[in-house]
Amino acid sequence: MFRLTSVLLLLLCLSCDRTVRPAPDIVPAPQALTVQSGIFRFLSATTIFVENDVISAENLQATIQKMHGFRVPISKKTQAIQIRIAVDTTLAQPTDYYQLVVEKDLIQITGKSAAGAFYGTQTLLQSIRKEQDYFMVPRMVVEDYPRFPHRGLLLDCSRHFFSVDVVKKYIDVLAFYKMNVLHWHLTDDQGWRIQMDRYPKLTEIGAWRTEPDGSRYGGFYTKDEIREVVAYAAARHITVIPEIEMPGHTQAALAAYPEFSCIGHGVEVSNDWGVFKEIYCAGNEETFTFLENVLTEVTELFPSKYIHIGGDEAPKFRWEQCPKCQARIKTEGLADAHELQSYFIRRIEKILQAKGRQLIGWDEIMEGGLSPTATVQAWRGIDQGIKAASAGNPVVLSPTSHSYIDYDLKSIDLAKVYSLELLPKELSPEIVANIRGAEVNMWTEHVPDEATLDQKVFPRLLALAEVAWRYDTARQFDEFAKRVMTQYAFLKKWKVDYGAESDPLRLVAGTDETITLIPGSNDLSLKYLISSGNWVDYTEPIKINFSGTLTAQAFRNQVPYGAPFVQQVANHAALGLPVQLATDYNKSYTGGGPNAFTDGLLGTLDFRDGRWQGYYGAHVDATLDLGKSTPVQSVRINAYQYNNAWIFLPKKVTVETSADGKKWETMGTAYPQAKPEQRGQFIEAFHVNSAQPISARYIRLRAENLLTVPDWHEAAGSDAWLFMDEIILR
Ligand code: ACM
Ligand code: ZN
Repeated sequence: MFRLTSVLLLLLCLSCDRTVRPAPDIVPAPQALTVQSGIFRFLSATTIFVENDVISAENLQATIQKMHGFRVPISKKTQAIQIRIAVDTTLAQPTDYYQLVVEKDLIQITGKSAAGAFYGTQTLLQSIRKEQDYFMVPRMVVEDYPRFPHRGLLLDCSRHFFSVDVVKKYIDVLAFYKMNVLHWHLTDDQGWRIQMDRYPKLTEIGAWRTEPDGSRYGGFYTKDEIREVVAYAAARHITVIPEIEMPGHTQAALAAYPEFSCIGHGVEVSNDWGVFKEIYCAGNEETFTFLENVLTEVTELFPSKYIHIGGDEAPKFRWEQCPKCQARIKTEGLADAHELQSYFIRRIEKILQAKGRQLIGWDEIMEGGLSPTATVQAWRGIDQGIKAASAGNPVVLSPTSHSYIDYDLKSIDLAKVYSLELLPKELSPEIVANIRGAEVNMWTEHVPDEATLDQKVFPRLLALAEVAWRYDTARQFDEFAKRVMTQYAFLKKWKVDYGAESDPLRLVAGTDETITLIPGSNDLSLKYLISSGNWVDYTEPIKINFSGTLTAQAFRNQVPYGAPFVQQVANHAALGLPVQLATDYNKSYTGGGPNAFTDGLLGTLDFRDGRWQGYYGAHVDATLDLGKSTPVQSVRINAYQYNNAWIFLPKKVTVETSADGKKWETMGTAYPQAKPEQRGQFIEAFHVNSAQPISARYIRLRAENLLTVPDWHEAAGSDAWLFMDEIILR
């Protein structure tokens, strides 16, 4: 009797739970979620029931266990206390819609499709919480659907190879955030990673490179492994879109089969990064036979509607010299090598269409005329995507500005990815309908291992997941950032070694010869240290009255957050002076703005560090007004070279002086020590000295850009970059 009353009391209590719990923190945020009073409580009698096996109950069971540590039995029939999953294709709702209704005894997930039902289970997984000693879900109604049908991650497994286990882990986490495309970058200059029966040398030779230190690096996926990955993804409602690069980024393939290049020999699997001039010969019929055979095997492995054929960064240098390519241009009545690119892409598209597939390629496939049926992945800018969408072509957006999560947090942090505007302007409904979604691109040139990969991808992937799923134009980053904090516990369960949300701190030059430090978020405090001095709390801008090293460190709750920031500082006679520039620097490499040459801050070996001012196909021509006649004895400026990135030292640096700004006298000219051919990333200082101090009010410095990338270079003929940091005057 006593036991019966306590059970009754307990039941009564449960049913009279009037507390409204906080809404769960879900990423991506659902379109609509309403919390009601009370909870669904997991009891030993709770089961999972999936009607008609529309999704995998075992997968849901395993993921609940992995994320929350308890097991819910699977039932083959309806029961009183249950998670019930069904599909109703007749719902008058958007594609992949789902409804999740949490009642006291029942969690009902109804998808308009199996994918929709699956997405409902991901929302459920993120909604389960522990209360006292039991697990529960707040009573609620969620109505949700994806705004864009294509939500992807590009994973580059060519530059660095990642095991099947890593790829599967990424598929798990993509699914957890309702993403549905793994864009698998399988071939590039540095490695061919997919087994091909008909062309065994693609992996025997093309999958391996000799590193500069002589070691061998490589790997590839066997056909069985590829099938395993594709099936694993399909079970999680993810399509794997393979990318087989052509006509450029093909050194690995051409190392194996040089007969398909224009010159027929001398190609190696690259052990360096960049854009290379050896590409498939578009004049050779055998090239197309080869590619058709390759694509036959590729389409046998991948059931995806889309096959990505790359198409980016194909220098036309060889095609312009190659008799076969030139003959093709003639016989096909093409204007030039750009139209030959268009011809090439259209032929490949026909091969794919004959197999019932659709071609997707990077936005360079618009070069020389875009096929009306191709899908364009815009990477050079959203505008490229709008251009293609306006022409009536389907588009996927992954602009370098927001989607390149290989970039460091200085350039692209979580907030930046979250600010991606997929529909940036007033666009007609037809154009909007052509924008199919977005991807983040994870290129792995500088990502040798899984930990680095995780730190780059997470948490930034979550921002893209939400933008592509919810696309709320009124979204607030701070609100999103709070939800991201709650996801770290899940990411740990997925064994993701996630990185920071933003750069721990930024350093900005003031106009008054000072340096301002800005913490990456409000909860961080900063300390700094000058050369080998003592650590000081940062409270106000730092006066540049020293030359040396400034080291700054962010702290979250007294614990160091992120790595220390190290900046070389130069105090000199031109510090803080306004700079007159006769030529334009590039907007992507401002060096901090118009006065970058006199802000006291020097560039590092990372050309994206924000200190280098970059000139694209243009010289540097800078004039300083010292305000009054001043003795000048030495002028020094640093230049940067990394010829893989088309950045070269200047041909020469000339310094002139003047008393009135009209009549100029040459103080001297400095020439580079290093040749343009020298590989690697390095800085060279250019000195112009005078034996005796010269009295001058004006100083003019000109640095001569190569203007075009030299003939021996892979990107011969492209505009050349010139990068400089500071005019150090003494
Ligand atoms: C690309 O980043 N070259 C597509
Ligand atoms: Zn050729």
